[in-house]
Amino acid sequence: MKKIGFLLSGSGSTLKNLIQKINEKYLEAQISVVISSKSNVYGLKIAEENNIPCFVVEYSEHKKDLDEYSKKITEILKKYNVDLVVMGGFMSFYKVPEIYTNKVLNIHPALIPSFCGKGMYGLKVHKAVIEYGVKITGCTVHFVDNEYDHGPIIYQEAIRVLDNDTPESLAERVKEVEKRVYPYVIKKILENKFRIINRKVFLEED
Ligand code: GRF
Repeated sequence: MKKIGFLLSGSGSTLKNLIQKINEKYLEAQISVVISSKSNVYGLKIAEENNIPCFVVEYSEHKKDLDEYSKKITEILKKYNVDLVVMGGFMSFYKVPEIYTNKVLNIHPALIPSFCGKGMYGLKVHKAVIEYGVKITGCTVHFVDNEYDHGPIIYQEAIRVLDNDTPESLAERVKEVEKRVYPYVIKKILENKFRIINRKVFLEED
């Protein structure tokens, strides 16, 4: 059984969805450990309720030393022998070590390389999308490298921006798509059904 290490900072809706997909046997994997960059977040409660070991590595205490911060996270991931690291609502910078190259995934609620980068998370993304006036947004699953929202793109899906959308209504529709897309991509990656050439990723379709 493949082992996932999950990184979060907030409400954990992505974690909850993944647990559900595992319970439904859509995904043959186990979430071995959850690491949060913040204490007292709902995501940790979800982990506890599902008997998943969880840890807090406080980002606010490590802002000045990202190497030390990332090292602490990596040590936990290594201890739990994870095969894949999945970020879901993880809002800090993790320096990906060599051993986890192309083994860390993130989902971003817009079409990278637009509306992404440092400080672009949560409702801010959808607000920027609406203010700019683009007609299409979406979500992007990508490998994480050591630049914000920059690693090789694995999968993208487009979502129409409606004339009467608010950041909240758009966020909701994007989340619905993410719920389907992220488990699909995680499944493909865990099954090794992908090739990567330079920064182009090719998924083997069903
Ligand atoms: C999602 O919209 C995703 O795009 C972004 O974080 C949001 C989910 O956060 N990476 P959470 O899982 O509810 O904490």
